[in-house]
Amino acid sequence: MEDHKYYLKQNAQIDPLFNYWYAYPQLISPATAAMHIANSHLKIMNSYVMSPDVHAAAVKNPAMRGGPFIDFQSNRVNEIRELMSKTQSKQAHMIKLAEAIKSLNDLLASEAKGYSIEALYPKVPMELRGYVELVYDLNHNPSFRLLESLLYKSEYYDPSSQSVILSLVESDDRPFAYSTPRLEEEGRLQLNIAFSHPGIDELFKMREVPQTFSYIKDALGLKNGQEAMLATFLTEAMPPKTPKYEGDSVRIRYFGHACVLIETKDVSVLTDPVISYDYANNDDGNRYTYADLPETIDYVVITHSHADHLMFESLLQLRHKIKNIVVPRNGGGSLEDPSLKLVLQNTGFKNVIEVDELDSIEIEGGSIDAVPFLGEHADLNIRTKTAYLVRLGGKQALFMADSNNLEFMVYDHIHRLYGDIDVLFIGMECDGAPLTWIYGSLFSRAIDRKMDRSRRLSGSDFESALDIVNRLNCKKAYVYAMGQEPWLCYLTSIKYTSESRPIVESDKLVEACKQQGTFCERLYGSKEIAI
Ligand SMILES: [Fe+2]
Ligand SMILES: [Fe+2]
Repeated sequence: MEDHKYYLKQNAQIDPLFNYWYAYPQLISPATAAMHIANSHLKIMNSYVMSPDVHAAAVKNPAMRGGPFIDFQSNRVNEIRELMSKTQSKQAHMIKLAEAIKSLNDLLASEAKGYSIEALYPKVPMELRGYVELVYDLNHNPSFRLLESLLYKSEYYDPSSQSVILSLVESDDRPFAYSTPRLEEEGRLQLNIAFSHPGIDELFKMREVPQTFSYIKDALGLKNGQEAMLATFLTEAMPPKTPKYEGDSVRIRYFGHACVLIETKDVSVLTDPVISYDYANNDDGNRYTYADLPETIDYVVITHSHADHLMFESLLQLRHKIKNIVVPRNGGGSLEDPSLKLVLQNTGFKNVIEVDELDSIEIEGGSIDAVPFLGEHADLNIRTKTAYLVRLGGKQALFMADSNNLEFMVYDHIHRLYGDIDVLFIGMECDGAPLTWIYGSLFSRAIDRKMDRSRRLSGSDFESALDIVNRLNCKKAYVYAMGQEPWLCYLTSIKYTSESRPIVESDKLVEACKQQGTFCERLYGSKEIAI
């Protein structure tokens, strides 16, 4: 076995975990992670331990899909109880940090009335002392700015809370990722390594370049007894190889959701990587997988921080081949808008480039420009969101992800600056979840239900999207980022019917475009587009 070289199987999957919960950006940044531990993870686990049958029934109910319910039968109560008490002791300082954030909000509400805020510094809870600046906005509303980079250098950022699980994907059917912690299961290899561990890169390089068993065993720092499980992920069979793109024009390949690969023979750009797996008996034949990506990716661009757009599971598998990763800059210190640059740098990504609106990155044969992204964040002041205009071969492709056309005049300005768009990619998840679905754990006070429901995470509907198509004089429009692909259900919890609003609205867009002579299609699965 020692002399043989092995490839990693194409269906090897990595689950990135934080305290055994599926990881997303808010679980990396220390202050938001603290709020999620205290206000989400512990509460969900406690609720399951109290009434496991309620959880088991809720996950079976399609109307409750994506809700805060643990997807186990009642036989896992002891294990969840154990995880809960482990979290309470190992994360005691994080729970205190979450309490301190609440206390600071209470302090500001009761004592900062527009007069000098300086006297409040000694009253800041100890856990936050030295990590915040107290500020007013121009209407004298008090708040605080987190010194986020300092928090990453403190006990509040502990990479030993991160771990990964390796397993083999045998079907698209996976339990909803965000509300069920991972427990020990057969057929999985649990590795207590941080996301930045270089062994992760060595492992995923083996999808293309074989290595000996001892090489990868050492790279991952495997413990005795884990070898047999690692061996199940390896194969001597040579994987399929995709030839490098050498065409003269720009080639665009849709990989599912908001993930699109744009290539010329000189450069490659990949948006919001969410890559599906190739597994035996995958019968739809309608997907690109890891084997369809080039040897190196020059630029990965991330549109926003939502977990279906900045997805660690795919990013960790690609990290070794990503030359640059582009993210929108945050607003600087508000709890709800953590820095994506810090999230990625602290999880082992090199060459992270932050962009502001209208920033332009020169690339071989063109540029990547950051274009304003409005809405879809429940009216919170979140700056970590941008659309990208990729200019290559004299063509302009605009990737808008979940942008919502809240103010049509923005698109007049964009058109004035950049001119006509050759290909538009627009998300139309217009039936978005309420504010609390993603941001609920960050609030210190309960939110009125009516208020919550009025503030949604919605992308463009028919009228908004058609307006963008026309204002930007788009030659072609594709609806994407619908979360519709079967391999994404565990992330998006979306199962559309023909009556679902995003389907109805995007059908209307396709029809209206057809009437006016603009090419338009809703993407699903995979697609190659030449421009
Ligand atoms: Fe989103
Ligand atoms: Fe999305």
